[in-house]
Amino acid sequence: MRIGILTGGGDCPGTNAVIRAIVRRSIKEYSSEVVGFLEGWRGPIQNIVMPLTMNATGGLIHRGGTILRTSRTNPFKVERGPERVLENMEKNRLDALIAAGGEDTCGVANRLHLEYNLNVVCVPQTIDNDLNGTDFTYGFDTSVNIVAEALDRLHTTAESHNRVLVCEVMGRHAGWIACYGGIAGGADFILVPEKPINVAEVVGAIKQRHARGRDFSIVVVAEGSKFENEEVSPDAVRDAFGHERLGGIGDRLAKIIEKETGFETRATILGHIQRGGSPTAFDRVLATRFGVLASDLVHQKKFGRMVALQGTKLTDVPISEAVDKLKTLDMDLYKTAEVFFG
Ligand code: F6P
Repeated sequence: MRIGILTGGGDCPGTNAVIRAIVRRSIKEYSSEVVGFLEGWRGPIQNIVMPLTMNATGGLIHRGGTILRTSRTNPFKVERGPERVLENMEKNRLDALIAAGGEDTCGVANRLHLEYNLNVVCVPQTIDNDLNGTDFTYGFDTSVNIVAEALDRLHTTAESHNRVLVCEVMGRHAGWIACYGGIAGGADFILVPEKPINVAEVVGAIKQRHARGRDFSIVVVAEGSKFENEEVSPDAVRDAFGHERLGGIGDRLAKIIEKETGFETRATILGHIQRGGSPTAFDRVLATRFGVLASDLVHQKKFGRMVALQGTKLTDVPISEAVDKLKTLDMDLYKTAEVFFG
């Protein structure tokens, strides 16, 4: 077989491990050939291709980012986008495509499979962990570890200065990073997109904590969190998938907390630090397992599927199941976090 790989959307620690695993498995087990399309869906639209050999993909297990680079290109927003993807699959004599990405990349793969019969298999890649059908996406564990470490560091400076420190983390629609990172880093309050921000509740918890003699607090807020009754501004900058560019909730919240409590409050935005650098061992192993299974599915001609982790076992689910609805935060986990608020 001849197989293409692309990596789309936000990059993620572990993507290079997926690429390496697909290439190894496809060449060693199936004597297939593999090529990479560069820059997400832009690659198959514009026919930007590179060969992927075992040597070219060696030494990648620990490397963050993606050697195939990425973009948020949406073929359905480009003139004859889907048709050009199919033409370039044909031109490169490819039998199948493996797409690693989140809701947008997998959403496109799903439509191309259902509406254009593209032979495609997906790999769930997002630090946000919000793809349905899989317990974990790769990249999530790495970003949680980065958040936990950042909170450890914020703790010592918050304590020294008697400050409230608000830490804004990623998570557009789901509070997985905020909740896992916040629990691991001992946050005193966590705010997530699944629950509108109730200012009185946050302020009350901080005041209560300080009243019992703790003179500092750490608040974690997911970037997609909204105040009660808050509307998205019509002027918001949006990407090709219609998502607004987020960022700024941490600063806004810090100002409100300072005003309402009288405690000196500062905000830190972790931003892309959460997506950069080496994957954790957990993500290296998960990404490797995903890549091997994605190659197996392609060779079994099980198209329209996404590899998934359920419990400790790998399985596969229809891509449509993964993208039809988002996997939002398990609110039981949030209840566990709440034990430590205030
Ligand atoms: O990859 C998902 C994500 O990390 C979201 O949490 C975040 O909103 C978005 O990417 C930001 O990505 P970028 O700055 O690349 O548009």
